[in-house]
Amino acid sequence: MAKDAVGTIMITGEQIQQRAKEIGLQIAEDYQGEQIVLVGILRGAVLWMGDIMRNTDLDMIIDFMAASSYGASTKTSGVVKINKDLDTDVEGKHVIIVEDIVDSGITLSKLKEYLESKNTKSVRICTLLDKPAGRKTDVKVDYIGFEVEDKFIVGYGLDFDQKYRNLPYISFLKD
Ligand code: IMP
Ligand code: MG
Repeated sequence: MAKDAVGTIMITGEQIQQRAKEIGLQIAEDYQGEQIVLVGILRGAVLWMGDIMRNTDLDMIIDFMAASSYGASTKTSGVVKINKDLDTDVEGKHVIIVEDIVDSGITLSKLKEYLESKNTKSVRICTLLDKPAGRKTDVKVDYIGFEVEDKFIVGYGLDFDQKYRNLPYISFLKD
């Protein structure tokens, strides 16, 4: 794989494992005695989804959604299209959306709104990365792995043009 476009390691796989353990314990404490539905957002969240799943000791169902957003860079009311919907009925359930990165927050605020419209008991967000510099909405992010600076991040699920998702660490694209 051509890695010349990729910069130095920003966050190691080991650091991510450690953080997933901490967040998994926190989620298990927050939802003690309850069942939760983890909803992973394809495709970027796959590795982080696995980390959160295996570190959260609760009665759990998992499902996945895929979405794409348009106009996200120009306005706050970007249109989000759902390309793969849930197979699970989430009515009356506690949902945690598992995402790779929150940038503008447009995708997540729309997905959260959509899931809340299904009469869920609660909807929270768990993201591997938070890029606050890009934020265009006031969506609340409940569980954050790491905050990152305003760079184009790749690795550990995150892509550029569908590449680099399999890097076992977080890096960035050199310009
Ligand atoms: P948002 O709607 O602007 O928050 O964008 C969310 C989606 O854009 C994420 O789920 C990613 O797929 C993608 N994205 C945002 N920033 C980056 C980045 O730095 N690297 C790779 N993908 C990104
Ligand atoms: Mg992406």
